[in-house]
Amino acid sequence: MLAACALLLLLLLLPHATPLAPPAAPRKLVVVGGGWGGWGAAEKLSNAYRGDNASSVILLDALPDPTGRSPYLSPSSKPVEAGTRGFWKDYPNINELVSRLSLDPSEVFTPFTNSSFYSPAGLEATAPVFSDAPLQLPSPLGQVLATFPLFERLPLSDRASMLGLLVATVDCLGGSEATQTYYDKMNAQSLFQKFKLSPRLVNDFIKPTLLVGLFKPPEELSALVVMELLYFYALAHQDAFDVRWIANGTVASSLIAPLADSLLDSTPNLSCLGGCRVTSISRDAATSKYSIAYSQKSELASTSTIDDVDGIVLALGASGLKGVINNSPDLARIPSFAAATALTAIDVVSVRLWLDKTVSTRTPANVFANFPQLRGAGGTFFMLSQFQEGAQDALWGGEEVQGSVVACDLYNAAAFIGVPDEDIVNVFAKELLPAVVDGFKGAHVVDSWVGKYPGGVSHFSPGSLEKRPLMQGDAKAPGIKFAGDIVRMGDREHGAKGLCQERAYVSGLQAAEECMRDIGDAGVGGVAGPPVIQIRDDEKQFTAAVDANRKLKKLLMPWLK
Ligand SMILES: Cc1cc2nc3c(=O)[nH]c(=O)nc-3n(C[C@H](O)[C@H](O)[C@H](O)COP(=O)(O)OP(=O)(O)OC[C@H]3O[C@@H](n4cnc5c(N)ncnc54)[C@H](O)[C@@H]3O)c2cc1C
Ligand SMILES: *[C@@H]1O[C@H](CO)[C@@H](O)[C@H](O)[C@H]1NC(C)=O
Ligand SMILES: *[C@@H]1O[C@H](CO)[C@@H](O)[C@H](O)[C@H]1NC(C)=O
Ligand SMILES: *[C@@H]1O[C@H](CO)[C@@H](O)[C@H](O)[C@H]1NC(C)=O
Ligand SMILES: *[C@@H]1O[C@H](CO)[C@@H](O)[C@H](O)[C@H]1NC(C)=O
Repeated sequence: MLAACALLLLLLLLPHATPLAPPAAPRKLVVVGGGWGGWGAAEKLSNAYRGDNASSVILLDALPDPTGRSPYLSPSSKPVEAGTRGFWKDYPNINELVSRLSLDPSEVFTPFTNSSFYSPAGLEATAPVFSDAPLQLPSPLGQVLATFPLFERLPLSDRASMLGLLVATVDCLGGSEATQTYYDKMNAQSLFQKFKLSPRLVNDFIKPTLLVGLFKPPEELSALVVMELLYFYALAHQDAFDVRWIANGTVASSLIAPLADSLLDSTPNLSCLGGCRVTSISRDAATSKYSIAYSQKSELASTSTIDDVDGIVLALGASGLKGVINNSPDLARIPSFAAATALTAIDVVSVRLWLDKTVSTRTPANVFANFPQLRGAGGTFFMLSQFQEGAQDALWGGEEVQGSVVACDLYNAAAFIGVPDEDIVNVFAKELLPAVVDGFKGAHVVDSWVGKYPGGVSHFSPGSLEKRPLMQGDAKAPGIKFAGDIVRMGDREHGAKGLCQERAYVSGLQAAEECMRDIGDAGVGGVAGPPVIQIRDDEKQFTAAVDANRKLKKLLMPWLK
């Protein structure tokens, strides 16, 4: 009996233990977009089709080199990047990627850093590193206790009005789909009014935080996404707000390049084409396969096509998606795809300053709040020479190291897109930085770089939920899937929310799986590829509050599902 059971068990396990069968016919799979979403998809597909010489995986991006191998350089040959991006504590899939690539996390990332918050009135608060706190209080209690006392200028009564937002968050995130849609159509400013947050709390603390977290003021943001973000970054766990940065080079050079290298080295049939902007996608009615047309920057007005494509992952952000769908009748005909073209995107501006003097600041990561010079934008500054203490030569592009290197970012930066670069440099160098840290007063800018990215970032506007593309695509276009921070993930939703690298990466891994399932290749491949890791479980008191709220609502409002 026991032996029979063992045999049965073995038989059940066997198909998983041996390499899985190749696909029934050679496949051609294309990933459009080479950000975190696109590389997540490329990783999954490379693992699956590796060693199958008849199938091919192609990644296309408009950028000259989406592999991250050749650094982006300023005109004076110093490395630069579009925005300084932090890695929060709860990025389990990116952390797992780092170990899969055999990288040393302590070489890739800085330690978790504290950050300061400045207004025209001066320093408002410094957020500590929560995992260093001796006592791990259950959150959200831990958060409220740990951070709010630090906002000393805010009267206690204003700080206490934050409680209303916690109640709303419990109501919303624990609620039905209808509840979530209801909150998505509300803007966050109305939410704050409805739950009686003090105007001062909103203006002095929440609004500047949203401007640097979701890149828009509360009146232009979905209340649902604001609560998701609040929950993910601040409430779920006391230390979830802890953040770290790249310790050497850029996200592209220290994470994307090693991933691209390992995939391209191990998968002969993966190719990565840079400088290729996809213009349209069409479907051949007879074969049900897709054709992808793209233009190449290098060759004047040259367009090429990739034909006989079985599956596509579109990982191009809201602006890119709009361009492709509007130019592709076969896609625009599908209502859920056409809806995505109404999504809006946000402008960002990145500035890098090389100074003749080393300036010391309280903390390496910093937020500007409510400065009129920001013209309604959000602003941050990062002391790169503190993040990358061991790599000063690289920050100066091999030139003589003279002092601090500072990265300043502007979010919701529409009012700066037409402003000349030197004016933007002066706003930071002559006005904002000296206003918050005395040391900047005597520093001169010896070199600078400004990058402008109109429509570069996803906008979670009120009512956008229904327009956001579903990762799983649409039954009318089998094989086409979506990835990126903007997608909804349906029954495969993940805890990482908002403008977030972890979310984009996870959606790429999952979109590729969905694509393979559509074309009948769910079980294909020698390597299953990385499984997606969920965020840590909700802490008990949040789950309990959700439960209690649900019961209360059922009792009081039985017409709600
Ligand atoms: C200034 C700034 C600061 C940020 N800070 C943080 C942070 O601190 N922490 C964090 O986790 N996240 C941060 N983010 C957000 C994070 O960068 C994004 O969530 C993530 O990179 C999104 O990845 P994606 O793959 O969805 O899109 P993207 O990285 O935008 O990739 C889309 C790609 O598609 C390509 N493309 C577009 N159209 C076409 C076309 N027609 N043909 C071919 N290719 C095309 C583009 O060239 C691009 O490479 C920040 C973003 C910015 C801009
Ligand atoms: C397929 O590629 C592998 C290497 O991945 C190689 O060893 C093998 O000979 C190739 N087979 C064919 C038929 O080209
Ligand atoms: C896959 O790679 C092998 C080895 O490099 C090559 O012979 C084959 O033509 C490629 N197949 C496709 C479909 O690109
Ligand atoms: C920030 O953190 C560093 C390192 O943990 C510490 O030395 C420093 O005192 C902290 N600064 C503030 C202002 O809390
Ligand atoms: C930083 O990375 C580069 C490669 O991108 C490497 O050559 C250099 O040694 C690294 N520096 C440090 C301090 O780790």
